[in-house]
Amino acid sequence: MSGTKNVSLWGGRFSGAPSEALDALSVSTHFDWRLARVDIAGSKAHARELHRVGLLSDEELQGMLEALSSLDADVASGAFAPQPGDEDVHTALERGLLERAGDELGGKLRAGRSRNDQIATLIRVYLRDEAKHLTGRVLDLVEALLLQVDEVGDAIMPGRTHMQHAQPVLVAHQLMAHAWPLMRDLERLRDWDRRAAKSPYGAGALAGNTLGMNPQNIATELGFDEVCENSIDATAARDVAAEFSFIASMIGVNISRLSEEIVIWNTVEFGYVTLDDSYSTGSSIMPQKKNPDIAELARGKAGRMIGDLTGLMTVLKGLPLAYNRDLQEDKEPVFDQIDTLDVLLPAVTGMVQTMKLHTDRMEYLAPRGFSLATDIAEWLVKKGVPFRSAHEISGRCVALASATDRELWDLTDEEYAGIHEELTPDVRTVLSAAGSVAARAGKGGTAPERVHEQADVLRRAVAAMREAL
Ligand code: ARG
Repeated sequence: MSGTKNVSLWGGRFSGAPSEALDALSVSTHFDWRLARVDIAGSKAHARELHRVGLLSDEELQGMLEALSSLDADVASGAFAPQPGDEDVHTALERGLLERAGDELGGKLRAGRSRNDQIATLIRVYLRDEAKHLTGRVLDLVEALLLQVDEVGDAIMPGRTHMQHAQPVLVAHQLMAHAWPLMRDLERLRDWDRRAAKSPYGAGALAGNTLGMNPQNIATELGFDEVCENSIDATAARDVAAEFSFIASMIGVNISRLSEEIVIWNTVEFGYVTLDDSYSTGSSIMPQKKNPDIAELARGKAGRMIGDLTGLMTVLKGLPLAYNRDLQEDKEPVFDQIDTLDVLLPAVTGMVQTMKLHTDRMEYLAPRGFSLATDIAEWLVKKGVPFRSAHEISGRCVALASATDRELWDLTDEEYAGIHEELTPDVRTVLSAAGSVAARAGKGGTAPERVHEQADVLRRAVAAMREAL
């Protein structure tokens, strides 16, 4: 059933139709249509409340609910869709309702509500639902990282700061350093939901409604915990969207950081990883190329999502209370982020799941580049040398090895003794990557037993997060 009748939600005080230019600027159905089914759920709750206060008879309520259900089915199947002339999702659905319930009954639904409280409600219901899907997809990625954690066991790699060899770390430790930020993003989403779980419905245009309706009934039906305290705030504020947008951007940034490592690891110079053929691409001219496009797209998409957040914040910053039409611009940024993460996360998860890490190469490089220099200094400290001197002495070892193109363990006992009398031959006990990581045994450190515990904690956190979904 696709009507041709033009429906508007306003017009009584106007003598002419809107200009084409206004229509073209104003229309939002191309993006807000995704809220249609939530809008209908809100309308059903609203109809029940109109009935409760005596503004719809039993029979009218039944007719209204039937019309709304048939409209919902047609929206779901695609049989009913917005047409040119429908200003927004609410207008299109009003047309659909009038077509099904008739002008007399259909015309009763709008009493006691405004598009202002409606749209503020719909975005919350929609985002709360999407946040759950997003959480599931982020957990998939964390689980892919955990799969690699199992795969690499206690293998050691160079840990870096400033991109330079710093200290050896467990590969598993490094992988989980990408998992924890994602887990915090999920905690952020969970915490955000407490604020998003308040319903603006009943705020009307800005000041509340006069028909004796109880907004809590509608809130409960739509899955909210409570009703917003202030009707002006309820219709005007979009910090709920902005906060969601920040979390989405942060997820994008965290995926981008992981991806950047994969891009680097995937070079011939590093040789840490081979990506599965099904998660890499070729070059149209260079036959040898196998490119980490997923990781690169992840970096690029993070930029795009930060743009969404910035755009949204900029829309909000100068608005007086209460509703202003600028607020229509709150939707595309968050929808874009949702759609972006929707395609990005499965691809990144697949790439991480299927990549082959070359732990032999990592192990070979782990102690090189003088990454054990701190261990020499701390070994001296344990013998009573002040750290300031120990740092200096170890630095001299590095200078000698570097000048003669050797590694620290290549220096002779005599050379060590020549640098400082405390540098006895048993300094060699700390000149291995395994010794270095084992020594870092405090909580949060890279010693194998700490890393095993950490993996257990992470696994339990993932399970708890899944459970809560
Ligand atoms: N399409 C509008 C939006 O997304 C709905 C609210 C319109 N309200 C109004 N007073 N014109 O914000």
